[in-house]
Amino acid sequence: MSVREFVEIDFEKVDRLIEEEEARLEPKHRASIEYKQVASRTVAGGVASSWQDAPPHAIFIDHGQGSRIWDIDGNEYVDYHLGYGAMAVGHAHPKVVEAVERQARRGTHFAQPTKDIAAVGENLAERFGLPLWRFANSGTETTLEAVRLMRAVTGRDVVIKIEGSYHGHHDSLMFSVIPDPELIGPREHPATLPQVPGIPDVFAGLVRVVPFNDLAEAERALVENEGNVAGMIVEPAMMNCGIVMPEPGYLQGLKDLVHKHGAFLAFDEVKTGCTVAWGGAVEAFGVTPDIIALAKAIGGGLPCGAIGATEELFAPVLSGELDMAGTFNGNPLTIAACRATLTEVLTRDAYEHFDELHRILDDGCSAVIDKYRLPAYVSGMGAKGSIIYSPKQLREFRDTIGIDERISYLALLMQLNRGVFKSPWSKQETWTTSVAHIVEDARRYVENFEEFGAAVAS
Ligand SMILES: Cc1ncc(COP(=O)(O)O)c(C=O)c1O
Repeated sequence: MSVREFVEIDFEKVDRLIEEEEARLEPKHRASIEYKQVASRTVAGGVASSWQDAPPHAIFIDHGQGSRIWDIDGNEYVDYHLGYGAMAVGHAHPKVVEAVERQARRGTHFAQPTKDIAAVGENLAERFGLPLWRFANSGTETTLEAVRLMRAVTGRDVVIKIEGSYHGHHDSLMFSVIPDPELIGPREHPATLPQVPGIPDVFAGLVRVVPFNDLAEAERALVENEGNVAGMIVEPAMMNCGIVMPEPGYLQGLKDLVHKHGAFLAFDEVKTGCTVAWGGAVEAFGVTPDIIALAKAIGGGLPCGAIGATEELFAPVLSGELDMAGTFNGNPLTIAACRATLTEVLTRDAYEHFDELHRILDDGCSAVIDKYRLPAYVSGMGAKGSIIYSPKQLREFRDTIGIDERISYLALLMQLNRGVFKSPWSKQETWTTSVAHIVEDARRYVENFEEFGAAVAS
């Protein structure tokens, strides 16, 4: 077997290249930089969500069409950010626009059910193999409801989550998302670290953190908390530190383990759902959990969320004991967009298209990595992919510690300067493709990456 040899990355050069790329980008973004000052007068920090203000600076978007977006300075990009992966339908898809327009003319909100909900429920039940569904408005709400249902049905309080995974910004789960390596504690007992100030300590006592891809550590957590664990929530493929795939047997092993200990398994498919495959991670990895949290791609760009679960888990909702409620749950605009997205756009053939684009991106970027002997590899499937700047395959969050983020930041800047928009803050490169992306869009990404490889390795 040949052992791969890697080029030594010269970080002084990387710093120099970052400076050059930032200097080249700034004049292109004058309007964005100035407009942020205007917005800052009344909008805290000049942005609607903290993660919209990422280095090099917040970029205000004017409009989008298909695979493209245009910022308020008039720059055009092929969009691989896609609103953190929500726009797998592409921007302003005619079917989604038509569905939303039609519904807008008929009324935008009633807080009463509309007839589209059954079509959406049916589609999700078929894709994900869970019989009952409810709707919400974000991934945060759906993971919150998933945790609450598992607690309600078991009468237990402790939840197990994976170190380095993000499940939204509520107090039940916003722990050890990007934990400080100095504070994480031993691998067999990771510290439960709040991601932001303001989360009371008592909540941390209800969350046990474990490493991804390790059944023995999951079992340790279950045994040490025997009789107290309501359930475990897991992103079937970790997507917040590059893309870390589950090892064969891991997800099924988790399901068997939690059931053995009288607890439930929840999949957070907010990112994987309807992107990695038609039936999300359930189809891609062949494991159906007890409960699934969905959002992002199912709504074609409208604020959305869906919780799917077994009848056992929905029992307290069905009996009326637990009110799973929200003024905007099942909002007619959202549900109309979900219906069009799920039944007319993200149909089976869309996934053949995603696979083809993934092949071009994977083959092209892997060839660049080999050519320049970069300490990196490509990970992902379907509409999701990432370049991981590590010479060895990541299995869990702790494997990312020590990866120098300047390299992925430089990759982001070089793509931005060359007409490709990527998710800000990605510790590792990640991309989402849409049904509107064409082969040339994928080639553009690879060509830019080739320039990056040449610059870094020369
Ligand atoms: C895996 C995962 N779960 C939950 C969420 C929260 O979703 P939202 O931002 O819609 O609240 C996110 C957001 O990025 C996510 O990536």
